[in-house]
Amino acid sequence: MDVAQQNGNQQATLWNGHTGHAWVEMQARLDQILEPFKNLLVEVVSRAQRRQVLDVGCGAGSTTLAVGALLGSTGVCTGIDISEPMIAAAQARAEQEGIAARFLRDDAQVHAFEAASFDMIISRFGVMFFDDPVQAFANLRRAATDDAELRFIAWRSPEENPFMTTAERAAATLLPNLPVRRPDEPGQFGFANRLRVHKILQESRWTCIEIQPIDVACTLPESELVTYLTRLGPVGVMLQEADDQTRAQVIETVRPAFDPYVHGREVRFTAACWMVSARASASG
Ligand SMILES: C[S@@+](CC[C@H](N)C(=O)[O-])C[C@H]1O[C@@H](n2cnc3c(N)ncnc32)[C@H](O)[C@@H]1O
Repeated sequence: MDVAQQNGNQQATLWNGHTGHAWVEMQARLDQILEPFKNLLVEVVSRAQRRQVLDVGCGAGSTTLAVGALLGSTGVCTGIDISEPMIAAAQARAEQEGIAARFLRDDAQVHAFEAASFDMIISRFGVMFFDDPVQAFANLRRAATDDAELRFIAWRSPEENPFMTTAERAAATLLPNLPVRRPDEPGQFGFANRLRVHKILQESRWTCIEIQPIDVACTLPESELVTYLTRLGPVGVMLQEADDQTRAQVIETVRPAFDPYVHGREVRFTAACWMVSARASASG
């Protein structure tokens, strides 16, 4: 049975459908945009000298593979993701690049991990999509050893990340059925509220919780901006169903809204994120 059918999770449907396929197709470009975050996590694993690492919501696997390459024969990095196309892409990359890594296609919220099997759990933007985040982080806590470390990166608010909502704001009148983003709902900005994230981790028995703001400079080539805005995010999803005329109108309206971010051949924006760390502990 399909994962989406098993747990009725809307996010599973999304990531196994258009959004998952779009991420696979744009994997090389997204990896370039998100590379600074991969580097931050690889550095953390390297400093912590951990050996059994779990990458949650690993997508097409770039962080998993980078950590796998770092660990070499001294450990294993396992990636878990709910998306069939993204896990398939991750597995193909591991084979191509000759990097030993393990990939699981399942919902990390409920997956029956072996207890106490990971000494580090990481995620690059892969943990904001759970429909029951306390259940999910409690499940991850069970999978963690008693001295394990949790490190993940999540987006701060949409207000602090105006680049990310430029397309939907500009296209609002042309695409009246664009979904409205609601605070705290599963999705890109689901972990924007720092106090909520703290509470989720506390309730799921993580300790030493630290939530630090990080502002990271990101770039993409201007030549790929239209592909970016027509394939990804809520506007990208809506455009899959739109007729040619609406599509052309949306591009004509939305592209100039990105002008403030365009510097010659490069698009530059600041990603306002949280770097979250926590520890498992025997008494926790
Ligand atoms: C924004 S993407 C990030 C992917 C990857 N970490 C990266 O940085 O390229 C979010 C990922 O979380 C995955 N995801 C969403 N809900 C999940 C769940 N319940 N269990 C496992 N993965 C999930 C999605 O399929 C998607 O690959």
